[in-house]
Amino acid sequence: MSIAEKFVAMDYGPAPEDPKEARTWIEHHGHRFQHFINGTWQAPRGSEYFDTVDPSNGEKLASVAQGSSADVDAAVQAARAAFPKWRALTPHVRARYLYALARLVQKHSRLLAVLETMDNGKPIRESRDIDIPLVARHIYYHAGWAQLIDQEFAEYEPCGVVGQIIPWNFPLLMAAWKIAPALATGNTVILKPAEFTPLTALAFAGLCEEAGLPDGVVNIVTGDGSTGEALVKHPDVDKIAFTGSTEVGRAIRSATAPTSKRLSLELGGKSPFIIFDDADLDSAVEGLVDGIWFNQGQVCCAGSRLLMQESIAEPLIGKIKERISTLRVGLPLDKAIDIGAIVARVQLERIQRMVSQGIAEGATCWQPEVALPATGFFYPPTLLSNVHPTSIVAQQEIFGPVLAAMTFRTPREAVELANNTVYGLAACVWSENINVALHVAAQLKAGVVWVNCTNLFDASCGFGGYRESGFGREGGKEGLLEYLQPSWFKNLPKLSPRHTPPLHGNANADRENTTPAIDRTVKLYIGGKQTRPDSGYSMEVRSPDGNLLGEASLGNRKDIRNAVEAARKAESWTKTTAHNRAQVLYYCAENLSQRRDEIVRRLAAAVGAKQAAQELDVGIERIFSYAAWADKFDGAVHNPPFRNIAIAMNEPLGTMGIICPIEAPLLGFLSLVMPALAMGNTVIAVPSEAYPLIAADLYQLFDTSDLPGGAVNIVTGYVSQLLKTLAEHDDVDAIWSFSDEASAATAKAMSVGNLKQVWTNEGRAIDWFNPKLAEGRWFLEHATQVKNIWVPYGE
Ligand code: NAI
Repeated sequence: MSIAEKFVAMDYGPAPEDPKEARTWIEHHGHRFQHFINGTWQAPRGSEYFDTVDPSNGEKLASVAQGSSADVDAAVQAARAAFPKWRALTPHVRARYLYALARLVQKHSRLLAVLETMDNGKPIRESRDIDIPLVARHIYYHAGWAQLIDQEFAEYEPCGVVGQIIPWNFPLLMAAWKIAPALATGNTVILKPAEFTPLTALAFAGLCEEAGLPDGVVNIVTGDGSTGEALVKHPDVDKIAFTGSTEVGRAIRSATAPTSKRLSLELGGKSPFIIFDDADLDSAVEGLVDGIWFNQGQVCCAGSRLLMQESIAEPLIGKIKERISTLRVGLPLDKAIDIGAIVARVQLERIQRMVSQGIAEGATCWQPEVALPATGFFYPPTLLSNVHPTSIVAQQEIFGPVLAAMTFRTPREAVELANNTVYGLAACVWSENINVALHVAAQLKAGVVWVNCTNLFDASCGFGGYRESGFGREGGKEGLLEYLQPSWFKNLPKLSPRHTPPLHGNANADRENTTPAIDRTVKLYIGGKQTRPDSGYSMEVRSPDGNLLGEASLGNRKDIRNAVEAARKAESWTKTTAHNRAQVLYYCAENLSQRRDEIVRRLAAAVGAKQAAQELDVGIERIFSYAAWADKFDGAVHNPPFRNIAIAMNEPLGTMGIICPIEAPLLGFLSLVMPALAMGNTVIAVPSEAYPLIAADLYQLFDTSDLPGGAVNIVTGYVSQLLKTLAEHDDVDAIWSFSDEASAATAKAMSVGNLKQVWTNEGRAIDWFNPKLAEGRWFLEHATQVKNIWVPYGE
């Protein structure tokens, strides 16, 4: 083609990135990679290797070690041995190592970008300009936290040995998201990269060598799902951090349930991309290109559900089609392409299958006329319109360059449609009306909301999901908490099995002076009303020395269901201002104080006069604390390095099931229910099995304190039965179980259905009388989840 003809056609010529350096690097390793364990390269103990291929042409790039249980065990041992020394280093020394790693990522950035593109198929433009710079930024940011950790988290310690399992869509970025915060907080790690994309994690192991990182602090074990499973099941791993499919996330939740391993999950999404009729449509379409066609749509937070205001649907679809037609699909190393290869044949087939099913369910499919490369795994950018909200393509993660479009009429309908998903990872809102945009953003159930922008990430802004998109955050201060625990926690004694509450003070001596009173049967408290139990049965409540103290209702699954329904309806509590919540809590404290003597008298029969009086007095203080916190547990405003602010809001979890501790019937109840209420959650509480009669005093307290009906519901009965129903209930968003070890395991195991957040005492006895251990931020952090709302500024 002559120059003149080129000017007329205005076509792009190929602009390929040279893969020579990356090929030399692979050759240097003999096209064969071993595990990186204890600072050395170790052959797989089972002598097995698998191939990693370039998805743009199907060519094998290298053989990679398949990790067996024995390999995982060696890596865990190395990490365990390295942990005490790594933890004992000064924050500054750890900061220096992280800083060195960040510098090395920058120094080798081109090699890493090219390797990433060859192994994954993503356009070099993305790996070069987005993935690798974000990797460096993430490690720099955490080098900073390593320096500040003792000052900012004086009361905390690292979890220990951390197993990290990552997916293939952002291989090195996910490795950085996992490794940097873990190291900054003093943990040692075993990372298992995805089997499709292990190369950049192995290159990162080389950078750890180059940085002189102490042996065993970072271990990389490659392999497939079975290697990940061995890591999850290893008894000497203290925490698992996982990013990947919701299905595997569930399997990991189940596998870790009987253990006290900490767990964070970053799972799938079906994120809404909402465009209002007053949006700048051209910008919104550009955003959409980023939202769903970035990384071939293989992005957990991809804006894969387009919700358009009906009045603009037609012109918008026109603009989208026009814009998609200009997207260039091609070889990923070509610097002028927009869409590269799908990571693997199996993923390509999955996309094809889901699109066919979407069409069968009534969607209209439109694809631009685009020539796909002859070899490799490619899929054209695709628009599915007329999608029904219940269709598979509107509900399930496709993880491909496929947009499902729907319409709405009002902001309210937009919110309803947007939240009509089991996921809750991210959302986009486009409107020039900032009031509407922020009002909608606040109502969306998603960990990240981008207003008039999309797919922005920064190390300072926590990222993570609501609902079945997982729990825990990566990035920001909240991300560090995933790798830390209060330093006193591991030393707490384990509670002995049920019904042996350690009493505070000499209960038996005090009890002689009290008059045990046989009370009427204590009812349940549901929706602000006292109700009889569905079972029609009650349970006897006896003092430790066998005296009958009264009878409590024996709640069952039906009562729990009714209580959950009442809690879901108590929206006025969630929506009221923090000031109002504080007022109600103060009022509770006031009323408790007024009725102090009669409650002490009754409680004394169960726990002795001394403990009863202390429970009351400390309880009043505790309510005061949470009334004080109600309007002070603020979020933050981040300044990411773009023209944006990110507003990090502490939002309530929703409806919480709380199993109260046996050892302090009143104080334990207040210590858990009050922080949950203060943050705007609604609660179904199961009081101490040792003394459920406290429910009668509590509901009188709530009835007289202006708490709206349903904000707190109290169901007495056997924890083992009630907990199961609560944990399995899809309308319960979180469980706190502060009973014995078996209950902690049940809560985790039964919560897999909707992957609700579970927080437990791991069967340990907390001294509820000590405010340093039993109140404050640790509780508030577990009663909230952070939502980051990104808002751009400037013309
Ligand atoms: P996956 O969830 O199976 O793989 C993610 C990681 O988990 C890999 O390292 C894998 O080896 C490991 N793994 C697999 N089974 C395991 C087990 N039982 N225990 C421990 N680790 C295990 O995801 P896959 O199969 O690669 O992709 C399937 C679908 O999952 C995709 O189509 C997409 O919808 C979704 N996905 C979502 C991601 C996200 O970031 N939300 C990332 C990758 C996939």
